[in-house]
Amino acid sequence: MKMISRRDFLKASAVVGATAALTACGGGDSSSVASTATSVASSAASTAPSAAAASGSADIGVCIYQFADNFMTLYRADLEEYLGELGYSVTIMDGKNDQNTQTEQISTFLQQGVDVLIINPVQTTSAQTIVDTISPSNTPIVFINREPDKSVLDSYPDKCCYVGADARQSGTYQGELILATDTEGDINGDGTITYIMCKGDPENIDAQYRTEYSIKALEDAGKTVNCLYEYLDNWDQTLAQQDVANALAQYGDQIEVVFCNNDAMALGALQSIEQAGRTVGTDIYLVGVDALAEAVQAVIDGRMTGTVLNDDVGQATAATEATRMYVEGEPVEQYYWVDYVKVTTENAAEYL
Ligand code: BGC
Repeated sequence: MKMISRRDFLKASAVVGATAALTACGGGDSSSVASTATSVASSAASTAPSAAAASGSADIGVCIYQFADNFMTLYRADLEEYLGELGYSVTIMDGKNDQNTQTEQISTFLQQGVDVLIINPVQTTSAQTIVDTISPSNTPIVFINREPDKSVLDSYPDKCCYVGADARQSGTYQGELILATDTEGDINGDGTITYIMCKGDPENIDAQYRTEYSIKALEDAGKTVNCLYEYLDNWDQTLAQQDVANALAQYGDQIEVVFCNNDAMALGALQSIEQAGRTVGTDIYLVGVDALAEAVQAVIDGRMTGTVLNDDVGQATAATEATRMYVEGEPVEQYYWVDYVKVTTENAAEYL
């Protein structure tokens, strides 16, 4: 009998459940979607239904910062599926990690007269320019995955929202995964947790918060920490593999914990850890974020200490629902938040 994982289940029920999930935000179901949606009352104003809603269809333009990103590949497949199930015509563009390329794609979408834009910005620092480009056309924007400043959302009231997950929570969970190990992260028993960090794109708030809050969780538990080196690795498996190989050669057994702020980097780190003859769970710990299938399998096999579910299904569901509400002229709030979930050997099978 095939086991239905939570991800499969959520995928199957995502669009069906979407309306209930978003309308319940701020006090309703906290299982997966928009459970802690923050309402900014002034932003939740109604607009007239668009022509698209009247005809039961809409053209949606989606800008992804980079198709090559593992997590955004899952997310974009979800978006395509859910928006398609609503009968919308969906075009998804690859920003190729270049803001100029993405800006041109946005202009093309505006010329085509799309009804709503879903934007995963290449650079969050360009979000204001993006809004300034789009706002004269009155086209609503759903920002996803890379959180712009609140001032950016405020500058386009009622027409702009952010769907994401609070990266502080994921960082805290990474730290807690280490605290839950037999040695609470201090394998050599010297009273200090000595670690390296694979941070991710430093401009991305997810990278910043995960770096800060994973360590804060250790310190809040009274631990002393020692950071040997913080690598950037830009969310990338190959870069992390190289840097962690170098770190293991340089620092050897001093390294007790490898924090990776996403699973792509964790999988790269894992290759180097194993090549160096180290054993996760015995002489080193390794955590990631995202719950990519390969990482979840590594958790099940004991080759990763843990990961944190970055709920692409929940976020794509919320983004689809925000899009539908814009299309149909319903009030849209400014923020929709989706919870992270800790993934350990105990529950990992649910997330495959
Ligand atoms: C994910 C990363 C991804 C990044 C892209 C993060 O939330 O954890 O895997 O590379 O988003 O912006």
